[in-house]
Amino acid sequence: MASSAELGADRVPRVVRTRADLRDALASSPRPVGLVPTMGALHQGHASLISRARAENATVVVSIFVNPRQFNEAADFAGYPRDEAADLAAAGAAGADVAFIPPVEEMYPAGFQTSVRVGALAEPLEGAARPGHFEGVTTVVAVLFGLAGAERAYFGQKDAQQLLVVRRMAADLAIPTEVVACPIVREADGLAMSSRNALLSPGQRAAAPVVRRALLAAREAFDDGERGGEALRDRMRGVLAGEPLAVPEYVSCADPATLAELGRVEGPALLSMAVRLGSVRLIDNELLP
Ligand code: PAJ
Repeated sequence: MASSAELGADRVPRVVRTRADLRDALASSPRPVGLVPTMGALHQGHASLISRARAENATVVVSIFVNPRQFNEAADFAGYPRDEAADLAAAGAAGADVAFIPPVEEMYPAGFQTSVRVGALAEPLEGAARPGHFEGVTTVVAVLFGLAGAERAYFGQKDAQQLLVVRRMAADLAIPTEVVACPIVREADGLAMSSRNALLSPGQRAAAPVVRRALLAAREAFDDGERGGEALRDRMRGVLAGEPLAVPEYVSCADPATLAELGRVEGPALLSMAVRLGSVRLIDNELLP
Protein backbone atom coordinates (compact mmCIF):
# COMPACT_ATOMS: atom_id res chain seq x y z
CA MET A 1 0.00 0.00 0.00
CA ALA A 2 1.22 3.50 -0.74
CA SER A 3 2.27 5.50 2.29
CA SER A 4 0.77 8.92 2.83
CA ALA A 5 4.13 10.42 1.84
CA GLU A 6 3.96 8.57 -1.48
CA LEU A 7 0.44 9.86 -2.03
CA GLY A 8 1.71 13.36 -1.25
CA ALA A 9 -0.93 13.79 1.45
CA ASP A 10 -0.36 15.67 4.70
CA ARG A 11 3.31 16.22 3.98
CA VAL A 12 4.72 19.19 5.88
CA PRO A 13 7.39 20.84 3.78
CA ARG A 14 10.68 21.69 5.45
CA VAL A 15 10.85 25.48 5.55
CA VAL A 16 14.16 27.12 4.66
CA ARG A 17 14.65 30.87 4.57
CA THR A 18 18.25 31.41 3.58
CA ARG A 19 20.29 30.63 0.48
CA ALA A 20 22.69 28.55 2.60
CA ASP A 21 19.91 26.50 4.20
CA LEU A 22 18.39 25.76 0.80
CA ARG A 23 21.73 24.51 -0.48
CA ASP A 24 22.16 22.36 2.67
CA ALA A 25 18.65 20.93 2.42
CA LEU A 26 19.20 19.99 -1.23
CA ALA A 27 22.70 18.60 -0.72
CA SER A 28 21.22 15.77 1.35
CA SER A 29 18.08 15.27 -0.77
CA PRO A 30 17.61 12.57 -3.39
CA ARG A 31 17.79 13.56 -7.05
CA PRO A 32 16.31 14.49 -9.41
CA VAL A 33 15.08 17.77 -7.93
CA GLY A 34 11.99 19.54 -9.28
CA LEU A 35 11.64 23.29 -8.60
CA VAL A 36 8.31 25.16 -8.60
CA PRO A 37 8.83 28.94 -8.37
CA THR A 38 5.81 30.85 -7.00
CA MET A 39 4.83 34.08 -5.33
CA GLY A 40 2.53 32.28 -2.89
CA ALA A 41 -1.23 32.68 -2.44
CA LEU A 42 -1.22 29.14 -3.73
CA HIS A 43 -4.26 27.80 -5.60
CA GLN A 44 -4.99 24.72 -7.66
CA GLY A 45 -2.97 26.09 -10.58
CA HIS A 46 0.14 26.09 -8.40
CA ALA A 47 -0.87 22.73 -6.91
CA SER A 48 -0.98 21.21 -10.38
CA LEU A 49 2.65 22.27 -10.95
CA ILE A 50 3.71 20.85 -7.57
CA SER A 51 1.87 17.55 -8.22
CA ARG A 52 3.54 17.25 -11.61
CA ALA A 53 6.93 17.92 -10.03
CA ARG A 54 6.13 15.32 -7.36
CA ALA A 55 5.34 12.72 -10.01
CA GLU A 56 8.56 13.36 -11.94
CA ASN A 57 11.21 13.97 -9.25
CA ALA A 58 12.56 12.53 -6.01
CA THR A 59 12.64 15.92 -4.27
CA VAL A 60 10.27 18.83 -4.80
CA VAL A 61 11.17 22.41 -3.83
CA VAL A 62 8.57 25.17 -3.92
CA SER A 63 9.79 28.74 -3.65
CA ILE A 64 7.45 31.36 -2.24
CA PHE A 65 8.70 34.89 -2.78
CA VAL A 66 6.71 37.98 -3.72
CA ASN A 67 9.43 39.43 -5.91
CA PRO A 68 9.50 43.23 -5.63
CA ARG A 69 11.62 43.58 -8.80
CA GLN A 70 8.90 42.26 -11.09
CA PHE A 71 6.12 44.57 -9.87
CA ASN A 72 5.79 47.76 -11.87
CA GLU A 73 3.05 49.17 -9.60
CA ALA A 74 3.73 49.74 -5.89
CA ALA A 75 0.05 49.19 -5.02
CA ASP A 76 0.04 45.82 -6.80
CA PHE A 77 3.07 44.71 -4.76
CA ALA A 78 1.65 46.02 -1.48
CA GLY A 79 -1.76 44.46 -2.10
CA TYR A 80 -0.49 41.11 -3.35
CA PRO A 81 -2.14 38.37 -1.20
CA ARG A 82 0.18 36.76 1.36
CA ASP A 83 -0.68 33.80 3.64
CA GLU A 84 2.31 31.67 4.59
CA ALA A 85 0.45 29.14 6.78
CA ALA A 86 -2.12 28.41 4.09
CA ASP A 87 0.63 28.20 1.46
CA LEU A 88 2.62 25.65 3.49
CA ALA A 89 -0.48 23.49 3.92
CA ALA A 90 -1.28 23.69 0.19
CA ALA A 91 2.32 23.02 -0.86
CA GLY A 92 2.50 20.04 1.51
CA ALA A 93 -0.79 18.60 0.34
CA ALA A 94 0.40 18.80 -3.27
CA GLY A 95 3.65 17.03 -2.40
CA ALA A 96 6.38 19.61 -1.73
CA ASP A 97 9.34 18.45 0.38
CA VAL A 98 11.00 21.82 0.84
CA ALA A 99 9.55 25.35 0.90
CA PHE A 100 12.08 28.12 0.25
CA ILE A 101 10.63 31.32 1.72
CA PRO A 102 13.39 33.94 1.77
CA PRO A 103 13.08 37.50 3.04
CA VAL A 104 13.92 40.14 0.41
CA GLU A 105 17.42 40.75 1.84
CA GLU A 106 18.23 37.05 1.43
CA MET A 107 17.13 36.92 -2.20
CA TYR A 108 18.81 40.25 -2.93
CA PRO A 109 21.62 40.60 -0.38
CA ALA A 110 23.50 43.86 0.10
CA GLY A 111 25.67 44.46 -2.94
CA PHE A 112 23.41 42.58 -5.36
CA GLN A 113 23.83 44.30 -8.72
CA THR A 114 23.12 41.81 -11.48
CA SER A 115 20.10 41.82 -13.72
CA VAL A 116 19.08 39.32 -16.39
CA ARG A 117 17.29 40.83 -19.37
CA VAL A 118 15.96 38.78 -22.28
CA GLY A 119 15.63 40.64 -25.61
CA ALA A 120 12.83 40.75 -28.17
CA LEU A 121 10.66 38.03 -26.62
CA ALA A 122 10.30 40.11 -23.47
CA GLU A 123 9.32 43.30 -25.31
CA PRO A 124 5.70 42.95 -26.59
CA LEU A 125 2.48 42.14 -24.66
CA GLU A 126 3.25 41.89 -20.94
CA GLY A 127 6.67 43.42 -21.52
CA ALA A 128 5.16 46.50 -23.16
CA ALA A 129 2.35 46.80 -20.61
CA ARG A 130 4.60 46.26 -17.58
CA PRO A 131 8.01 47.93 -18.07
CA GLY A 132 10.75 46.09 -16.16
CA HIS A 133 8.48 43.18 -15.28
CA PHE A 134 10.32 40.44 -17.17
CA GLU A 135 13.73 41.71 -16.11
CA GLY A 136 12.54 41.21 -12.54
CA VAL A 137 11.20 37.75 -13.37
CA THR A 138 14.30 36.51 -15.18
CA THR A 139 16.62 37.92 -12.53
CA VAL A 140 14.83 36.13 -9.67
CA VAL A 141 14.35 32.94 -11.67
CA ALA A 142 18.08 32.92 -12.54
CA VAL A 143 18.91 33.14 -8.82
CA LEU A 144 16.43 30.36 -8.02
CA PHE A 145 17.83 28.17 -10.81
CA GLY A 146 21.35 28.78 -9.50
CA LEU A 147 20.41 28.00 -5.90
CA ALA A 148 18.30 24.91 -6.54
CA GLY A 149 20.38 23.37 -9.31
CA ALA A 150 17.21 21.47 -10.16
CA GLU A 151 16.95 18.98 -12.97
CA ARG A 152 13.53 20.41 -13.82
CA ALA A 153 11.52 23.57 -13.14
CA TYR A 154 7.77 23.85 -13.65
CA PHE A 155 5.95 26.84 -15.14
CA GLY A 156 2.32 27.42 -16.09
CA GLN A 157 1.07 28.06 -19.62
CA LYS A 158 -1.18 30.65 -17.91
CA ASP A 159 1.79 33.02 -18.14
CA ALA A 160 2.63 32.04 -21.70
CA GLN A 161 5.13 34.84 -22.36
CA GLN A 162 6.88 34.24 -19.03
CA LEU A 163 7.31 30.60 -20.01
CA LEU A 164 8.89 31.58 -23.35
CA VAL A 165 11.13 34.20 -21.77
CA VAL A 166 12.34 31.82 -19.02
CA ARG A 167 13.01 29.09 -21.60
CA ARG A 168 15.00 31.54 -23.71
CA MET A 169 17.02 32.66 -20.69
CA ALA A 170 17.81 29.08 -19.63
CA ALA A 171 18.90 28.17 -23.17
CA ASP A 172 20.97 31.34 -23.68
CA LEU A 173 22.73 31.09 -20.31
CA ALA A 174 23.30 27.32 -20.67
CA ILE A 175 21.38 26.63 -17.48
CA PRO A 176 20.91 22.85 -17.38
CA THR A 177 17.49 22.97 -15.69
CA GLU A 178 14.75 21.70 -18.02
CA VAL A 179 11.80 24.13 -18.17
CA VAL A 180 8.55 22.11 -18.10
CA ALA A 181 5.26 23.70 -19.27
CA CYS A 182 2.02 22.85 -17.43
CA PRO A 183 -1.56 23.43 -18.66
CA ILE A 184 -3.82 26.23 -17.39
CA VAL A 185 -6.07 25.28 -14.46
CA ARG A 186 -9.47 27.03 -14.48
CA GLU A 187 -12.44 27.67 -12.23
CA ALA A 188 -15.69 25.94 -13.18
CA ASP A 189 -16.84 29.05 -15.10
CA GLY A 190 -13.64 29.17 -17.14
CA LEU A 191 -11.78 31.91 -15.29
CA ALA A 192 -8.08 30.99 -15.16
CA MET A 193 -7.01 30.52 -11.55
CA SER A 194 -4.87 33.39 -10.30
CA SER A 195 -3.78 34.71 -6.94
CA ARG A 196 -5.22 38.06 -8.01
CA ASN A 197 -8.75 36.61 -8.43
CA ALA A 198 -9.11 36.91 -4.63
CA LEU A 199 -8.91 40.71 -5.07
CA LEU A 200 -11.99 40.89 -7.35
CA SER A 201 -15.21 42.33 -5.92
CA PRO A 202 -18.27 40.06 -6.31
CA GLY A 203 -19.40 42.10 -9.32
CA GLN A 204 -15.97 41.96 -10.94
CA ARG A 205 -15.74 38.23 -10.21
CA ALA A 206 -19.07 37.70 -11.96
CA ALA A 207 -17.80 39.66 -14.98
CA ALA A 208 -14.35 38.02 -15.13
CA PRO A 209 -15.25 34.94 -17.23
CA VAL A 210 -15.66 37.34 -20.18
CA VAL A 211 -11.91 36.91 -20.68
CA ARG A 212 -12.29 33.20 -21.35
CA ARG A 213 -15.42 33.78 -23.45
CA ALA A 214 -13.53 36.23 -25.66
CA LEU A 215 -10.73 33.71 -26.24
CA LEU A 216 -13.21 30.94 -26.99
CA ALA A 217 -15.13 33.15 -29.42
CA ALA A 218 -11.92 33.68 -31.39
CA ARG A 219 -11.18 29.96 -31.26
CA GLU A 220 -14.67 29.29 -32.60
CA ALA A 221 -14.12 31.76 -35.45
CA PHE A 222 -10.80 30.04 -36.18
CA ASP A 223 -12.49 26.63 -36.17
CA ASP A 224 -15.04 28.03 -38.64
CA GLY A 225 -12.20 28.95 -40.98
CA GLU A 226 -11.27 32.52 -40.03
CA ARG A 227 -7.53 33.05 -40.60
CA GLY A 228 -7.23 36.83 -40.40
CA GLY A 229 -5.19 37.91 -37.37
CA GLU A 230 -7.01 41.23 -37.10
CA ALA A 231 -10.39 39.52 -37.54
CA LEU A 232 -9.57 37.20 -34.64
CA ARG A 233 -8.40 40.13 -32.49
CA ASP A 234 -11.62 41.98 -33.40
CA ARG A 235 -13.67 38.98 -32.36
CA MET A 236 -12.03 39.07 -28.90
CA ARG A 237 -12.43 42.86 -28.61
CA GLY A 238 -16.10 42.53 -29.55
CA VAL A 239 -16.83 40.07 -26.74
CA LEU A 240 -14.91 42.18 -24.22
CA ALA A 241 -16.84 45.29 -25.31
CA GLY A 242 -20.03 43.57 -24.15
CA GLU A 243 -18.81 43.65 -20.54
CA PRO A 244 -18.70 47.23 -19.22
CA LEU A 245 -16.53 46.29 -16.21
CA ALA A 246 -13.81 44.80 -18.43
CA VAL A 247 -11.19 47.23 -19.77
CA PRO A 248 -8.84 45.54 -22.26
CA GLU A 249 -5.16 46.46 -22.07
CA TYR A 250 -4.09 44.43 -25.07
CA VAL A 251 -5.56 41.74 -27.29
CA SER A 252 -3.16 39.65 -29.34
CA CYS A 253 -3.01 36.97 -31.99
CA ALA A 254 0.69 36.20 -32.30
CA ASP A 255 3.25 33.70 -33.46
CA PRO A 256 3.69 31.46 -30.39
CA ALA A 257 7.46 31.20 -30.92
CA THR A 258 8.34 34.85 -31.59
CA LEU A 259 5.23 36.67 -30.26
CA ALA A 260 5.12 38.75 -33.46
CA GLU A 261 1.53 39.78 -34.26
CA LEU A 262 0.10 37.74 -37.11
CA GLY A 263 -1.55 39.18 -40.22
CA ARG A 264 -2.66 35.70 -41.21
CA VAL A 265 -2.76 32.53 -39.15
CA GLU A 266 -0.96 29.91 -41.20
CA GLY A 267 0.42 27.72 -38.41
CA PRO A 268 0.03 27.73 -34.65
CA ALA A 269 -1.06 30.99 -33.00
CA LEU A 270 -1.19 32.30 -29.45
CA LEU A 271 -4.35 34.24 -28.62
CA SER A 272 -3.75 36.29 -25.49
CA MET A 273 -5.02 39.30 -23.60
CA ALA A 274 -4.69 41.42 -20.50
CA VAL A 275 -7.91 42.89 -19.13
CA ARG A 276 -8.49 45.16 -16.16
CA LEU A 277 -11.48 44.80 -13.87
CA GLY A 278 -11.15 47.82 -11.61
CA SER A 279 -7.58 47.70 -10.32
CA VAL A 280 -7.23 43.94 -10.86
CA ARG A 281 -5.37 42.91 -13.99
CA LEU A 282 -6.17 39.49 -15.46
CA ILE A 283 -4.30 37.65 -18.22
CA ASP A 284 -5.25 34.53 -20.13
CA ASN A 285 -4.44 32.83 -23.41
CA GLU A 286 -5.38 30.10 -25.81
CA LEU A 287 -3.10 28.24 -28.17
CA LEU A 288 -4.38 27.55 -31.72
CA PRO A 289 -5.06 25.11 -33.28
P1 PAJ B 1 2.93 33.04 -9.67
O1 PAJ B 1 2.01 34.03 -10.29
O2 PAJ B 1 2.74 32.70 -8.21
O3 PAJ B 1 2.86 31.73 -10.50
C1 PAJ B 1 3.71 30.65 -10.22
C2 PAJ B 1 3.57 29.63 -11.33
O4 PAJ B 1 2.24 29.12 -11.33
C3 PAJ B 1 3.81 30.23 -12.72
O5 PAJ B 1 4.59 29.33 -13.48
C4 PAJ B 1 2.41 30.38 -13.26
O6 PAJ B 1 2.33 30.33 -14.67
C5 PAJ B 1 1.72 29.18 -12.63
N1 PAJ B 1 0.27 29.38 -12.61
C6 PAJ B 1 -0.41 30.43 -12.09
N2 PAJ B 1 -1.74 30.27 -12.30
C7 PAJ B 1 -1.90 29.11 -12.97
C8 PAJ B 1 -3.04 28.40 -13.49
N3 PAJ B 1 -4.27 28.87 -13.37
N4 PAJ B 1 -2.81 27.23 -14.13
C9 PAJ B 1 -1.54 26.75 -14.28
N5 PAJ B 1 -0.44 27.37 -13.81
C10 PAJ B 1 -0.62 28.53 -13.17
O7 PAJ B 1 4.62 33.50 -12.08
C11 PAJ B 1 5.07 33.84 -11.00
O8 PAJ B 1 4.46 33.55 -9.79
C12 PAJ B 1 6.37 34.61 -10.86
O9 PAJ B 1 6.56 35.41 -12.00
C13 PAJ B 1 7.62 33.69 -10.65
C14 PAJ B 1 7.83 32.76 -11.85
C15 PAJ B 1 7.46 32.87 -9.37
C16 PAJ B 1 8.89 34.58 -10.50
O10 PAJ B 1 8.75 35.44 -9.43
